[in-house]
Amino acid sequence: MMQDEEQGREELPLGLLSSPEALYDRTRQMMWSAVRYKEMRMEYSCALKEIRTKFDVLSTEFNIRNKRNPIASVSTRLKSTESTARKLLARHLPISLESIEKNIYDIAGIRVICSYIDDIYEIADAFLKQDDVRLIEKKDYIEHPKPNGYRSLHLIVSVPVFFAERKKDVTVEVQIRTIAMDFWASLEHQIKYKKNIPEQREVVSHLKECADVIARTDEEMLALRRKIEAAEDMPSEDEVLFDKLRKLDIQIG
Ligand code: GTP
Ligand code: MG
Repeated sequence: MMQDEEQGREELPLGLLSSPEALYDRTRQMMWSAVRYKEMRMEYSCALKEIRTKFDVLSTEFNIRNKRNPIASVSTRLKSTESTARKLLARHLPISLESIEKNIYDIAGIRVICSYIDDIYEIADAFLKQDDVRLIEKKDYIEHPKPNGYRSLHLIVSVPVFFAERKKDVTVEVQIRTIAMDFWASLEHQIKYKKNIPEQREVVSHLKECADVIARTDEEMLALRRKIEAAEDMPSEDEVLFDKLRKLDIQIG
């Protein structure tokens, strides 16, 4: 259970509490912590809705205005209680609500998948330009891949969430990557949970090779797309208009 830092009480094993009153008091504290924990998760979950909407809006706009939508898909997840506890323990951090809010930035996580590398930066710019989004930290693992080959753009941001009687700035981790990078990361992620993979070292180094092939392919696909786009004839004014008219029939949403 969470330590109640607000009241500055020491955590005692229940069996060691001296009186029935102390035990009752401690139990009530634990229950309040559980209630506050649930409320905290609600806040993170609402922040995810806010951020998700931002990417959904960008995606809708691109669908209606442009030929191509740089956003292939968006997914969100709230970190499980177990994985939150594991992270706190692994980092020797206090197990408390305050500690979670202060130290763990990925309770709320959103992943935006793009087709091409330049889409990643375009989407990140459009998102970070919004005046209610505050950038806390940017980690560019595309420019600087991890030694295992992991590539992605990570943004830790804070957004205001409006509740009935208050406003709260909530932290969210945004990961933006290409379809190919995501394909790689989902397989690589599995080795973290497997203890007895035969020829582990070979698997790790083979994965690294795959990451490099994927990175090259992403770059080549981008170069090819640019070449194809550059070769497109300049459309006439009427063609532009008909192109826009065609979009009138696209479902918005
Ligand atoms: P944690 O890795 O979450 O403890 O935080 P950190 O502060 O080290 O941040 P980092 O940017 O390294 O990682 C944040 C998240 O990115 C992770 O929780 C994963 O979802 C993802 N990630 C980072 N590195 C890797 C990796 O090597 N492989 C895979 N598959 N995912 C990774
Ligand atoms: Mg990490």
